[in-house]
Amino acid sequence: MDTDVQQQIDWAGWLRRWDAQQEGYVPEREARFTAMFDALEALLPPSFVALDLASGPGSLSRRLLARFPEARAVAVDMDPVMLAVGRGALGTVDGRLRWVEADLATPDWLAALGETRVDAVLSSTALHWMWPEPLLRLYRELSVLLPPGGLLLNGDHLAFSAALPTFARLSEHVLEQQWTDAAFAARGIETAEQWWEAFGAEPAFAPLLEARAKMLAGKQRQETPPGFDLHVAALREAGFREVGTIWQSMSDRVLMAVR
Ligand SMILES: C[S@@+](CC[C@H](N)C(=O)[O-])C[C@H]1O[C@@H](n2cnc3c(N)ncnc32)[C@H](O)[C@@H]1O
Repeated sequence: MDTDVQQQIDWAGWLRRWDAQQEGYVPEREARFTAMFDALEALLPPSFVALDLASGPGSLSRRLLARFPEARAVAVDMDPVMLAVGRGALGTVDGRLRWVEADLATPDWLAALGETRVDAVLSSTALHWMWPEPLLRLYRELSVLLPPGGLLLNGDHLAFSAALPTFARLSEHVLEQQWTDAAFAARGIETAEQWWEAFGAEPAFAPLLEARAKMLAGKQRQETPPGFDLHVAALREAGFREVGTIWQSMSDRVLMAVR
């Protein structure tokens, strides 16, 4: 994109709009971020390196770096649009934030990362995209990247197990009510589809959207993402010694795993 055009775009506005629609899907998103950061504060020294996995435009990294002035973060995502919004809105936060374009479902992402060790791995509303096999591989890779005592904090909707059908029904009922277009409209919040439509209506973004379409070609979204039990079993199998929930609202939770 032409540098002059790039400078005229209100990237911070697109990030604010992103945050607003994400909060429509995760009404307690800020509380969830806070629970993750409280764990980092309690368990790590103030100067740490964090990985923001499937970062989108960097909502988590932005908040983390504001709360921890001595920390550094690396935001990884495969979507060129997300990375452009993040880079445009946040830049490098005085050299403390690095952006990496990589697909976490392919083993090459580690080579692209440019770090051989991080103290914490965080992710928000994203790992539900990963199919079980690449997810297990990813957890194994993360357990090598993290030192003993390192933390993985995943904030996402992780479905209740088949052994808790009433819990699952209740949680799905709440989500169905929150996630309808009518519920978004009633709250005056844009849906993700509407955000993408608005983004697509800007002629300057055509090359970015073309790059995104190329990146998504052949990728399939899974209907039923791995649930809580699968995440816990995969993390244990990958070598994490403690795995459990530290924050929860229905199926939305922060799963913490200690290397
Ligand atoms: C709903 S967004 C959440 C973004 C951000 N974490 C947030 O909370 O605002 C999901 C993100 O996961 C990214 N993603 C999904 N699968 C991925 C993969 N295999 N590798 C890298 N990024 C991925 C998408 O590109 C998207 O930016």
